[in-house]
Amino acid sequence: MEALVCRKHGDPTNPPDSSENSPLSVSTSHPIPNLISPTSVRVRIKSISLNYATYLQVLGKYQEKFPLPFVLGSDYSGVVESVGPNVTKFKIGDRICAHAGVGSFAQYIVAEEHELYGVPDGCDLVAAAAIPVAYGTSHQALVHRANLKSDQVLLVLGAAGGVGLAAVQIGKVRGAIVIAVARGTEKVEFLKSMGVDHAVDLSKGGVIESVKSFLKTKKLKGVDVVYDPVGGKLMKESMKLLNWGAQILVIGFASGEVPVIPANIALVKNWTIHGVYWGNYETNRPGVVEDSLKELLSWLARGLITIYMSRSYKLQEAYLAFLEIKDRKVIGKVMITVDDPKTIPSSRL
Ligand SMILES: NC(=O)c1ccc[n+]([C@@H]2O[C@H](COP(=O)([O-])OP(=O)(O)OC[C@H]3O[C@@H](n4cnc5c(N)ncnc54)[C@H](OP(=O)(O)O)[C@@H]3O)[C@@H](O)[C@H]2O)c1
Repeated sequence: MEALVCRKHGDPTNPPDSSENSPLSVSTSHPIPNLISPTSVRVRIKSISLNYATYLQVLGKYQEKFPLPFVLGSDYSGVVESVGPNVTKFKIGDRICAHAGVGSFAQYIVAEEHELYGVPDGCDLVAAAAIPVAYGTSHQALVHRANLKSDQVLLVLGAAGGVGLAAVQIGKVRGAIVIAVARGTEKVEFLKSMGVDHAVDLSKGGVIESVKSFLKTKKLKGVDVVYDPVGGKLMKESMKLLNWGAQILVIGFASGEVPVIPANIALVKNWTIHGVYWGNYETNRPGVVEDSLKELLSWLARGLITIYMSRSYKLQEAYLAFLEIKDRKVIGKVMITVDDPKTIPSSRL
């Protein structure tokens, strides 16, 4: 089968196999994985969602490191191709989405049935690959951790990116007043079309003045919840907009700079700081992840959230998708779609 293999750490925007510098190579004869237990399922992969974390993994800068070489992993969607004898939740032909730390940038993957989520009828299977990480993280943060309520003011940084746009949509579903922060006219116009209450264009000025003038017109005191996948100077400035009792959701550091949140100010203003790492919720609180993904898939089926895919690429073109992430061009999600294999292997255990 075809699979995208990381041979060494390095810049994934170099075309695979093009030179010694390329950390990635496309294998066309990678072994198809066998079922590993009576409750395992083999999935024919349709689509993979590229996350910023995937980019950091290849660079060797992600918090979790996998032994080299490895097939890249991320969230994916596909169709059940074979099932172990004790599988009860799925049958051949069912549509699923899931997350895998490694192994999903390939035509097939094997997973335990409890790791898979059924994609409801009517939902686009390609788009469903983006649900677990981006939407799962934002749902976990806003619903499970912050318990975001109707009419609270939510400030989303990096709002046009993968997790940011998910946070914007989940904020609207919860009835919050959503302020979105992004860089450039295209991203800001897009966010307005998504129904945000106010959008800040960082290419035209800082966050403080724009948000303060919006809050003043709406007779609002400040921000109740800030969702931060960016960090750095932007988070430092955003702290000046927070209400007494505000909640800070620490999601990531796309700016490359970990922000300092002064404990003395957090004390005086009664702020709550939540560190949110979706990846290890799967291990520590699997029930929370399950409830959250089921709710998100039901919202997707009812049209309450929509997955905006800026572009999709083939496995061989993944370096172009990484380039879009590196150049901050992505609006919503950039996806990898996988060609159907020429021959379908017979099921085996
Ligand atoms: N905690 C978790 O469980 C979890 C889960 C998923 C992702 N994350 C983290 O969240 C962050 C965003 O992930 P994502 O998948 O949403 O990425 P993404 O789609 O690439 O979005 C990142 C956004 O950050 C903004 N940004 C600001 N400074 C940047 C810089 N120097 N380089 C690149 N982007 C910059 C960009 O917006 P503008 O260009 O508009 O400023 C961009 O839209 C990453 O750090 C990722 O590791 C954490």
